[in-house]
Amino acid sequence: MQRNGVPYIIGFCVAVCLVCAIIVSSSAVGLKERQETNKLLDRQKKVLTVAGLLQEGESVSAEKIQSMFTKRIKSVIIDLKSGKENAEATQNAASFDQRKAQKDPSSSISAPKNRAGVRRIPNQAMVYQVSQNEMATDGAGFELAQYIFPVEGYGLWSTLYGFLAVAPDGNTVKGITFYEHGETPGLGGEVDNPSWKSKWPGRMVFGPAGSSVDSWGEAKIKVKKGYAGSPAEDPYQVDGLSGATITANGVTYLVRFWMGENGFGPYIRNALGQAG
Ligand SMILES: Cc1cc2nc3c(=O)[nH]c(=O)nc-3n(C[C@H](O)[C@H](O)[C@H](O)COP(=O)(O)O)c2cc1C
Repeated sequence: MQRNGVPYIIGFCVAVCLVCAIIVSSSAVGLKERQETNKLLDRQKKVLTVAGLLQEGESVSAEKIQSMFTKRIKSVIIDLKSGKENAEATQNAASFDQRKAQKDPSSSISAPKNRAGVRRIPNQAMVYQVSQNEMATDGAGFELAQYIFPVEGYGLWSTLYGFLAVAPDGNTVKGITFYEHGETPGLGGEVDNPSWKSKWPGRMVFGPAGSSVDSWGEAKIKVKKGYAGSPAEDPYQVDGLSGATITANGVTYLVRFWMGENGFGPYIRNALGQAG
């Protein structure tokens, strides 16, 4: 075959494309498991960080993350609507993928119109319970220090995915973090800024402390435009994000949504032992 003939050139191009396609797809398949493991580790690290068990940005080995997670965090799957733990699902909590469940019409329902931009609500959701002290492998020694709820909602450009840590009173915020979003760095992306996140602990989600049930569905917490006072003076407001009020409002709406009746509200109410 002539090297400068059309059939040769086409054949050569096809061969190069095939080889490249095989290399790319086999590395994508080969790395998938590692990517999944790293994603899980990253999620566990964020949970430990929002729980205050790791410092923001602290460098720790995968083994340490896994060991701390096992000793201090109980992963519980709940039925969102009833707010009750699903013991069977909890057994497989490690492999539970809430985002996948939320997208799948067979394991989620359509969300009522809401300002957080949440389209579907999973039937089951993950709640992390943080233990005050290290617990044994069978859970002995567990003493509840806080709950960590996965939250998500729309900002300006993207869905923000994060965790909200709440004290056992179901009301006092212990921390917030976002592990994935596509907001603009320096504007909406400031939701990641440790200095802004440090404004959250001590704020209240619902009404006066201890009366969350009285003000059910009316979470008061709000990211305001401008500066809020200290948590003691201004318990329901958090400093705004300068030049990023749309993302900031998104954070308000998503926290209110997931702490409300369509989110973890029924679970918190059950956990507090109060009737629905
Ligand atoms: C390139 C560009 C990127 C922006 N990114 C964000 C963003 O991530 N989040 C946000 O709320 N506003 C962002 N804004 C600003 C919004 O359009 C809007 O002006 C702002 O949210 C209003 O907030 P302010 O009242 O605090 O200025 C961006 C604007 C531009 C031009």
